[in-house]
Amino acid sequence: MYDSSLRAQKSLILCEDGTHTLYSKEFDEPYHSTKDGALHETLEKYVKPTLHHQRAKDSLVILDICFGIGYDTLATIYYIKEQGLDTKLHIISPEFDEELVRSIGSFEYPSEFDSLRPIIESLSRDLYYSDEQFRIEILIGDARERILEIEQKVDIVYQDAFSPAHNPLLWTREWFGDIRSICNDDAILATYSTAAATRLGLYENGFEIYIHRAKLMRYSTIASLTPIEGEEFVDMELKKIRNTEAKSMRDGDYVE
Ligand SMILES: C[S@@+](CC[C@H](N)C(=O)[O-])C[C@H]1O[C@@H](n2cnc3c(N)ncnc32)[C@H](O)[C@@H]1O
Repeated sequence: MYDSSLRAQKSLILCEDGTHTLYSKEFDEPYHSTKDGALHETLEKYVKPTLHHQRAKDSLVILDICFGIGYDTLATIYYIKEQGLDTKLHIISPEFDEELVRSIGSFEYPSEFDSLRPIIESLSRDLYYSDEQFRIEILIGDARERILEIEQKVDIVYQDAFSPAHNPLLWTREWFGDIRSICNDDAILATYSTAAATRLGLYENGFEIYIHRAKLMRYSTIASLTPIEGEEFVDMELKKIRNTEAKSMRDGDYVE
């Protein structure tokens, strides 16, 4: 499916918002949309909408799939600090590329992350960080296995894996079922994927589907276990009638 011998082969790319990301030879794909920009995409598709919908809670558990170079985790903390919020966060993030996480101390992050230096150093050294407000755990290993060990109930999910075409096992109905099983009943999930198969996989696990639109950005998907306001509802029953060919991805199609 993908060639792990290529895992170490990555190149640095400059995105259109002036921030940097990486290109993965293993998955033949960039870590972020170079057009939407690593920081801009992360803030607009993941951080802002999910924190907005969970704003009533004073402590949140976030599942960040997968850590990569950590934009989702770091941008969440940056945004919480910038907004002066005292929300407590526990971020749990699986990632099988330990060498990448160990290297983030020398990654060219945007200046917005300058004050997060101690966090970045701690994560690359210990795969862990904690202070009075933030606790971050990186779970090294295959996300499909590590998710089964998570005991906390999750409020927010960042579903930011490589694309369904290149990393299918992180987009199947069974994968979304594992995510669902550790979610609180009002959990919200954000993903850049707008594919019918992704939305069906989420819907079949009890998530309602919404289109999220932000400025200067391709639209994205928000999935929620309870009805939410301010996003564009997608009637999945109608979609199923109109597109009888569409189906969710299944583990059995990708596992030998
Ligand atoms: C699109 S990148 C994530 C980008 C990340 N959110 C960021 O902001 O840098 C996808 C990540 O998933 C990791 N990955 C792919 N398949 C995985 C698996 N089965 N288990 C754990 N990590 C995986 C890759 O190593 C890569 O770091």
